[in-house]
Amino acid sequence: MLQFDQVSLRFPDAPAPTLRNCTFEVDIGELVVILGPSGCGKTTLLKLVNRLYEATAGQIFFNGKDIQTIPLTALRRQMGYVIQQAGLFPHMTIAQNIAVVPKLLGWSKTEMAARVEELLDLVQLSPDFRQRYPSQLSGGQQQRVGLARALAANPAVLLMDEPFGALDAITRKSLQGELLKLQQQFHKTILFVSHDIEEALRLADRILILNQGHLVQYGTPWQILTQSASPFVEELVGTEDVLKQLSVLSVERVMVTTTSPVPHLPKIDCHASLRAALSLLLKSGQSQLQVMTGETAVGILDLNHIQAVWQDPAGLDTRPLV
Ligand SMILES: Nc1ncnc2c1ncn2[C@@H]1O[C@H](COP(=O)(O)OP(=O)(O)O)[C@@H](O)[C@H]1O
Ligand SMILES: [Mg+2]
Repeated sequence: MLQFDQVSLRFPDAPAPTLRNCTFEVDIGELVVILGPSGCGKTTLLKLVNRLYEATAGQIFFNGKDIQTIPLTALRRQMGYVIQQAGLFPHMTIAQNIAVVPKLLGWSKTEMAARVEELLDLVQLSPDFRQRYPSQLSGGQQQRVGLARALAANPAVLLMDEPFGALDAITRKSLQGELLKLQQQFHKTILFVSHDIEEALRLADRILILNQGHLVQYGTPWQILTQSASPFVEELVGTEDVLKQLSVLSVERVMVTTTSPVPHLPKIDCHASLRAALSLLLKSGQSQLQVMTGETAVGILDLNHIQAVWQDPAGLDTRPLV
């Protein structure tokens, strides 16, 4: 859906390029989180996609076409843009804010009203919000409107620049959850900028890590974590912290119980930590372990079980503590 080929950008008068030789692809329906410290070039990369900035070298393809060959309005129509603090127009009502792009596209009043109603429902705001102004909404509600506005003309791609960055932790979590739900329903292709590793791990199909304009790693959360490309990545994603979490959880809590032993699998005690299990899995090159209590087989532990735990630690809460 999107393809960067050796893309670089150097601002006029800047001593060094802000982005250097970035090459990566984003598949249809994929949610990619662009992660990195402040100033590393995340926003710049995002703005290249809808041509708010132009690359000074390299090419960007959208649906196989060089974006330079696509008329700007046609390109932007297919890309919803969501920014921090929503960026709503203060003098316009919520309904007018949401309908900005449909209005530009010449939709009728009836069509716009129907779409506004549909979108408010989608982002879980009551229809009463239509006539309010942005200043009369909480930060989280404004962000919901920002998302509704970006979705209004049903774009294929969503560009989201730290959309939940200014919200409190609880509101941020609930909006992340809703974004995931929307994503399951609509399968947009999403580029989502964040500097929050937890947010990245929670949302991303793949994470793209930038450091000083260089793409340093691009992979699934699991790959980023278990095969960090450099000490920079390890520190950024807190590989140590995740390993710490895995060392306080026992194999017993996530294994699948079965009393029929599987021959030839490496064996591990049910009270061993997930960290020890992970280490044994990686060392043995197997994807499963036989879980034992003394000489008795009591279950199977799969790599996927460990993966599921750290991708969604909350899922553990429903299991009995050991
Ligand atoms: N329009 C611009 N002109 C000149 N320099 C810019 C411009 N936009 C961003 N930069 C510089 O590019 C670097 C990356 O900025 P940015 O992409 O906003 O970082 P991030 O979003 O990762 O915090 C920064 O050093 C910033 O000062
Ligand atoms: Mg930024």
